[in-house]
Amino acid sequence: MIRVGMIGCGSMARNHCVALQPLAERMRFTAFADIDPERAGAAAARYPGALAVKDYKLIFDDVDAVVIAVPHDLHHRIGLDCLKAGKHVLMEKPLALTEGECRELIAADHSPHPVLMLGYVMRHNPMWTRFGECLRDETFGKVFHVSIWTEQYTDTSRAAWLGEARRVGGGQLFSHGCHYIDLLLHWLGDPVCGTHIGTNLGTPWMEREGTSDVSLKFASGATAYHFGTWGARGTRLGYAVHAHCTEGMLELDGSAGTITLHRSRTDGDLPALEALAAPGEALDKPDQVVVYRRPDEGGKAVVEQMAAFLDCIEQERKPEISAAASLRSLQVIWKLYEAEEQMRVADLRGI
Ligand SMILES: NC(=O)c1ccc[n+]([C@@H]2O[C@H](COP(=O)([O-])OP(=O)(O)OC[C@H]3O[C@@H](n4cnc5c(N)ncnc54)[C@H](O)[C@@H]3O)[C@@H](O)[C@H]2O)c1
Repeated sequence: MIRVGMIGCGSMARNHCVALQPLAERMRFTAFADIDPERAGAAAARYPGALAVKDYKLIFDDVDAVVIAVPHDLHHRIGLDCLKAGKHVLMEKPLALTEGECRELIAADHSPHPVLMLGYVMRHNPMWTRFGECLRDETFGKVFHVSIWTEQYTDTSRAAWLGEARRVGGGQLFSHGCHYIDLLLHWLGDPVCGTHIGTNLGTPWMEREGTSDVSLKFASGATAYHFGTWGARGTRLGYAVHAHCTEGMLELDGSAGTITLHRSRTDGDLPALEALAAPGEALDKPDQVVVYRRPDEGGKAVVEQMAAFLDCIEQERKPEISAAASLRSLQVIWKLYEAEEQMRVADLRGI
């Protein structure tokens, strides 16, 4: 049984605690730390005997591993302290605020003794993973364009620090878009060049952008687009991905929980849509078929992520999403921000 401590008991921590019940046989929350004692106390109250403290260093005797879910400007210092104390660390993204801070954490990473894993939770989402596998395995031919939309509404009622560029490390792109830059790099390979244009119109509580448009080109020749906003007062796409491949277009619909193949070509060399349909899916349209549907139960990304972290601890394995691996997405964002300020296209070769 792995004893886990939570450092930072805000909205992300609440998600973790509620969702992780299915892992109760492998892990137990034994300590909670938050500078707001009410938050630490409220979280600990759900776990009989769990410690609630203000100073995270006071939990070290009671835990084998920690989840760090604090504002971004604290990731570096708290991460180093936990690793120095020999604790396994699941660090919420992004790793830290600057390349220098990230490099110090990478130097302190001796995974799996102890493990340092980054919380890029979308990499553990079964539907998004399946989508990425279709692109990487060229299931529907070569991919030449991917678009990712994330339309959310967030304001200061969630957390005031999210508006402060100094604490976030930027704006919406650095804080939330990093998930999708990470996925695009994972799916499409080495980036070549790109642009970012952001605005805080619509999210005036944010110092930097609350709405973000990214265009990227990859060494394969594929291009990609990411639109993310925290200002959506309504949405049709929600979370959605479209990928154009040489044998059809794949559509991930986050709300419906489906991946649909759209195909207008009827050439004889392509498999029939019947052969591609997910089990039980209707074949009532000549040019589209659902190839994946999210199951009603299980498959929660945050549970899959914690299970991967526990696997690394129990099996003494290095995590796939290591500190070093997670740095790439941030390097792309820093270059995009720099180029945006200078009104030019960013050269992303070598990242
Ligand atoms: N993976 C995801 O999808 C996702 C979603 C939301 C947030 N996050 C990440 O989770 C982290 C936390 O975000 P959040 O939305 O929960 O923020 P939040 O503001 O709701 O919670 C942060 C908590 O940290 C506490 N805190 C501040 N300083 C502390 C310190 N020195 N010691 C202990 N606790 C301290 C605050 O009091 C607060 O309760 C961030 O890294 C964020 O990017 C990830």
